[in-house]
Amino acid sequence: MNNVTSVSEAPEAVEALSSLIESRRAVRRFRDDPVPEAVIRHCLELAALAPSSCNLQPWSFCVVQNPTLLHELRTVCLGQSAAKAPLIIAVLARPDTWKQSCADILKFWPEPSVPPAIERFYKKTAPFQYNQGWMGWRGFLKRQMLRFMSLKQPVMWTPNSVKQMRLWAVKSTALAAQNLMLAFQSYGYSTCPMEGFDEVRLRKVLPIPGDAMPIMLLAVGLPGERAVYNPRLRFPLEQHVLWY
Ligand SMILES: Cc1cc2nc3c(=O)[nH]c(=O)nc-3n(C[C@H](O)[C@H](O)[C@H](O)COP(=O)(O)O)c2cc1C
Repeated sequence: MNNVTSVSEAPEAVEALSSLIESRRAVRRFRDDPVPEAVIRHCLELAALAPSSCNLQPWSFCVVQNPTLLHELRTVCLGQSAAKAPLIIAVLARPDTWKQSCADILKFWPEPSVPPAIERFYKKTAPFQYNQGWMGWRGFLKRQMLRFMSLKQPVMWTPNSVKQMRLWAVKSTALAAQNLMLAFQSYGYSTCPMEGFDEVRLRKVLPIPGDAMPIMLLAVGLPGERAVYNPRLRFPLEQHVLWY
């Protein structure tokens, strides 16, 4: 048995969450009012409450409020209107931080001592899983080993290459990005996730580590006039849900 409250028992929570999710739209016109730092900090904390693979939290955020940098980011974002916001947060997926994160889990463990199973996991299992070796050579060996093992038992096929590590990091980071948008929405600030940007130029404007992947630039601010361009459109549920 788990403790999940059923929908009918929690109408207030359902209503609150539904209205928050339904009220979020991609906003393309922002007012100039700055977003208070306390709001930004709290929203980032809520973003980091997103689930992540093995709790390794493979994300980082570049918070840009400096007017000169914001101006440069507008060009980086191909001059698109959504980029004229008082705050832009570059959301970075970090396939490169798993090692430090394994150490940090043990360092920041929220109990007086780290349970032995946890210690074993982050000192042995996780490094085995995530270390792909130089140019992915370890990943290559692991793939061969898994092929053999899979004849006898189910195996976890990914991430076992440098490329799969990138996807691994993007999955968790996208969840954090969604938390971040909803958190700002709950404070009355609108957002627009943008992948329409020039990554090469972005790296010249912000000091993004080489292996970090900027997956989106998030424009944030109070909505301006005619902030939303189009009515909401979603496909019928049955078009993209399969029931078994
Ligand atoms: C990964 C991603 C990239 C996006 N890139 C852009 C973008 O570069 N510029 C933009 O104006 N909107 C962008 N959007 C916003 C989408 O166009 C928008 O979410 C979609 O049209 C649905 O509208 P809604 O969010 O208001 O429901 C992006 C959304 C996502 C999730």
